[in-house]
Amino acid sequence: MVMGNLIGMVLVMEVIVSGFSYGPYGVDALSMQYYMMSCPFAKQIVTNNVNRALQADPTLAAALGCDGSVLIDSTKENTAEKDSPANLSLRGYEVIDDAKEELEQQCPGVVSCADIVAMAARDAVLWSGGPYYDIPNGRKDGSRSKIQDTINLPSPSLNASELIRMFGQHGFTAQDMVALSGAHTLGVARCSSFKSRLSTVDPTLDSSFAKTLSKTCSAGDDAEQPFDATKNTFDNFYFNALQRKSGVLFSDQTLYTSPRTRGIVNGYAMNQAMFFFDFQQAMVKMSLLDVKEGTKGEVRENCRKIN
Ligand code: HEM
Repeated sequence: MVMGNLIGMVLVMEVIVSGFSYGPYGVDALSMQYYMMSCPFAKQIVTNNVNRALQADPTLAAALGCDGSVLIDSTKENTAEKDSPANLSLRGYEVIDDAKEELEQQCPGVVSCADIVAMAARDAVLWSGGPYYDIPNGRKDGSRSKIQDTINLPSPSLNASELIRMFGQHGFTAQDMVALSGAHTLGVARCSSFKSRLSTVDPTLDSSFAKTLSKTCSAGDDAEQPFDATKNTFDNFYFNALQRKSGVLFSDQTLYTSPRTRGIVNGYAMNQAMFFFDFQQAMVKMSLLDVKEGTKGEVRENCRKIN
């Protein structure tokens, strides 16, 4: 695991140092123009599929945006086993499948599922009002595990120091981590992810918001609580909620509670442009984690199973 992370880090550094490209001769490198010759409309096909799906169901933005966190799956020991996030992303996979099908018709065997997932997450963020960022392509799909196996969320019971350490192991700064957690401007958490906060008095939780959470949980473990007042819009309301002690997850609220990250939360709450800027930088960084290139992976025919 540690070795894998190290290799991933070295890869990321290599890619950053080389400016995402080894020039036209390096077939294995990630690049912004990766599909320019082999599948020129790849980006457009993904965007069209994502936009069409979001038009029909805006809540899908969260499911797709969350796939970004699939990329930080390496710390299996931190997985919140009890709240299997599977159903949250399953909805998103249909969009990925549709895009893949169209891409296979246009350019068979060319565009990897890993690239489609990364492009779809980017499109979902833009569609819901967030920043645009371009991501380098050329990732290959893993040839060992199923895509479903990689869906692991960090545990919502982690505190700021633990989150800083965990993200730090992947080369992220505390600022990157706080910016990335701003993805919780989209979507919902289920009661099972935050109910442990309600059994004791939690001084970091606003008492009237605690009542809101309890009310949500009265409908059962799967009842959904939006992270902020605008769950389908990518904005900085999530950070404003943290300032009001109205973060849904313990791991969200800890970013405001902890003196190590409170200043960053305040900055993003005050300045949405700064949040957007840092978010897009961190998302590009995340999209380069644990990347498989060249012969180290395959291009899956079907994103749900290995060839
Ligand atoms: C900082 C560490 C993080 C923790 C502890 C965490 C944890 C969680 C948890 C527990 C949920 C709710 C799952 C459920 O109850 O169904 C969730 C949802 C979500 N997470 Fe995170 N997450 C983290 C970082 C991220 C990152 C980096 C992203 C993407 C860049 C992300 C995007 C999302 C989105 C969009 C949802 C809502 C999904 C939906 O509504 O279907 N999270 N996260």
